[in-house]
Amino acid sequence: VGKTQEEITAALKARILFFNVESIPELKLINKLAGKLNLKAQVAIRINPNVDADTHDYITTAKKQNKFGIDLKTTRHIFLNLSKELKNLDICGVHFHIGSQIEQVRPFRQALGKALELIESLRQKGCAITHLNIGGGLGIIYKKEKPQTAADYARTVISFVRGKKLNLILEPGRFVVGNAGVLLAKVIYVKNTPVKRFLIVDAAMNDIIRPSFYGAYHEIIPLNVKRKAKLKKVDVVGPVCESGDFIAKNRALPDNLKEGDVLAVMSAGAYCFGMASNYNSRCRPAEVLVKGRKFTVINRRQNYRDLIRGEKISNR
Ligand SMILES: Cc1ncc(COP(=O)(O)O)c(C=O)c1O
Repeated sequence: VGKTQEEITAALKARILFFNVESIPELKLINKLAGKLNLKAQVAIRINPNVDADTHDYITTAKKQNKFGIDLKTTRHIFLNLSKELKNLDICGVHFHIGSQIEQVRPFRQALGKALELIESLRQKGCAITHLNIGGGLGIIYKKEKPQTAADYARTVISFVRGKKLNLILEPGRFVVGNAGVLLAKVIYVKNTPVKRFLIVDAAMNDIIRPSFYGAYHEIIPLNVKRKAKLKKVDVVGPVCESGDFIAKNRALPDNLKEGDVLAVMSAGAYCFGMASNYNSRCRPAEVLVKGRKFTVINRRQNYRDLIRGEKISNR
């Protein structure tokens, strides 16, 4: 939504396939910067098809009140009129990304329908549209969701684009990596209060923000706990000084979990490490790639030096 001059210039120099453009000012800036470099940049217009993806409000991106994309009327104006002035652009694609964790086929059908109708009518008026980028958005199973399968999705997409002479681009994220990642958290303390039990763990909202941010559910599996136990509802919380710092609330877990036990927080492959921060001066955890019985530390654990690297004491 907000590509800077520096980012656009870097992308132009790298000769990326095309820019997905989200506003007229952005389009004009890319045109200007492409001109400076004597280049013609390929561009797709990210449309806002006004489709409700039926997902969490924060990851809904294609309703008309969202900041993303360009409404269809303005998109037509860009293709049919504005494009003539933008000599350094080849506006040759349509893009949409309607949201994330979309479990139903309906929103995709609606967006595809609107995009193809638009492409068809623009082509009839002489616009050469060669690319359709349909974004990501496929939902995954965190708990008991029953999302459309990749095969259902493929059938839907093919039914719309077959024979339309379009290069199809997909941007799946969560579907590819969501369930490939697990966050390991160690129990530091078991704290019983008159009303609740808290498992205080060494991971926190800075490592996995989805529960605090979206009220998201992540399955929690205690590791190596062979002791038989009844289940007890607990809050699994981190050490950060925010009541919003929790990984799970009222979660039924074995009532004999103790300090030192390790919990696997599942489905942590998407929007967890990528959204991690150093909030509360916490060092980010290591990332470990596991393949079969082999593993490699692909990103080492941060230390306090990492946190202050780049800081300077002013002598004024
Ligand atoms: C433009 C765009 N494409 C693709 C994705 C990936 O979405 P998902 O992980 O839901 O597949 C995102 C996620 O934010 C996005 O903003």
